Amino acid sequence: MADKFFIRTFGCQMNEHDSEKVKGVLLDMGLEEAESEKEADLILLNTCAVREKPVHKVYSELGRFKRMGDKVIGVLGCVAQKEGKRIIERMPHVDFVIGPRNIYRIKEAFERAREGKKSVFTDQSSRCAVTDLSFPIARENPYRAYITIMEGCDNFCSYCIVPFVRGREVSRPPEDILEEVKILSDAGYKEITLLGQNVNSYGKGLDKKVDFADLLHMVHEVEGIEWIRFITSHPKDFSDRLIEAVMTLPKICEYIHLPAQSGSNRILELMNRKYTKERYLEIVEKIRSYGKYVAFTSDLIVGFPTETEEDFQETLDLIKKVEYEGIFAFVYNPREFTRAYNWEDDVPMEEKKRRLSELLKVQDEITQKLSKSYEGKVVDVLFDREESGWLVGRTRTFKIVKTRADKSRLGHIVKVKITEAKMYELKGEIVEGDV
Ligand code: SAM
Ligand code: SF4
Ligand code: F3S
Repeated sequence: MADKFFIRTFGCQMNEHDSEKVKGVLLDMGLEEAESEKEADLILLNTCAVREKPVHKVYSELGRFKRMGDKVIGVLGCVAQKEGKRIIERMPHVDFVIGPRNIYRIKEAFERAREGKKSVFTDQSSRCAVTDLSFPIARENPYRAYITIMEGCDNFCSYCIVPFVRGREVSRPPEDILEEVKILSDAGYKEITLLGQNVNSYGKGLDKKVDFADLLHMVHEVEGIEWIRFITSHPKDFSDRLIEAVMTLPKICEYIHLPAQSGSNRILELMNRKYTKERYLEIVEKIRSYGKYVAFTSDLIVGFPTETEEDFQETLDLIKKVEYEGIFAFVYNPREFTRAYNWEDDVPMEEKKRRLSELLKVQDEITQKLSKSYEGKVVDVLFDREESGWLVGRTRTFKIVKTRADKSRLGHIVKVKITEAKMYELKGEIVEGDV
């Protein structure tokens, strides 16, 4: 009987997509996916190190696996990169540790584990797996696909561990990206999401002079792909040329995740974000000046070192001005290696939590209001899955829509009239076939 594997994934879309790559290799090796950890011969944790809590969680999960008998255990992702061999020192039943730049070595690590050898693959200068097109990818969804366009990050925001665990920014050559988009189009995919920690600075270091706006134009040419998204944008690199591409190319969806982090210029400077609140609002204004409704979402941090009530009020003001459809808000968490780690974490936890809940309360009202505004409207929806008798999909603005319809609509973009809007999900009825 073939060996079975089970992967648990934490963290961001890059990690989700890395798991799809690892899964692709394992299936290619003849392994099968297990239904649960219990029935797996190989258990993998693809981990996130952006905050401390998930790092502790990794260790407690690994402790739990110890009691599960004779299994191969591997740790992948950002905690693997951060902790390296320390993981095996603390948890000797772990067989291998592989950082994000080395996931293509999963086969080697598994085979070594079978011979009783431990492996730690965390060389940051390693050949980047994303540039290898022969890498088999087992995508979770048959209609919507992630495509890596760059790895790593060079921005060094003063709070963020990502540049230390994901390494320097490397852009993937446009020809490789286009080839992958064509393969996806031939396989029937309708939507692609271009992935990178800061897609707006795409192109740095490539032989050919090409930027993100150029890449969007190129990808847009590929027939069959109908919707294009990208994540994540950094406000400092949102040029007018890029705004024009995003707003005028019809396949690009009206959804922009544009993390602001804070509304206070003093805090933004300490964060090393390289834009002001005014510049951020100017980008939003320019985008809106095209006259199309665009859904914005954001990441925000409260309780950054030295953040005062006035600074926090600036953040509240920003979210009210932009009117995001949704936000991801976090309390500041000091991270090893980062610049801010050396600064006093001086906002008391109680105060951080108060600011977080106030921020979320204000945002909830905005989300609710914007969600309600969909009621009665007809929107395009790409249905991509079935869930307890409902067809579930997303609008171009990334809102979840559910409807009662037969499965033949899966993988199609369909016009839906929204009949009921909840905060995070819309319900509706199909009004006609494919658009
Ligand atoms: N590259 C993206 C960007 O520029 O926003 C995503 C970075 S990170 C993977 C996702 C979010 O985690 C960040 O946008 C930030 O809001 C949050 N984050 C990162 N480091 C943090 C820290 N030390 N404490 C709290 N939140 C943090
Ligand atoms: Fe972290 Fe800043 Fe890079 Fe985003 S842009 S990954 S927040 S360092
Ligand atoms: Fe976490 Fe690594 Fe993504 S730290 S948020 S999984 S890049």
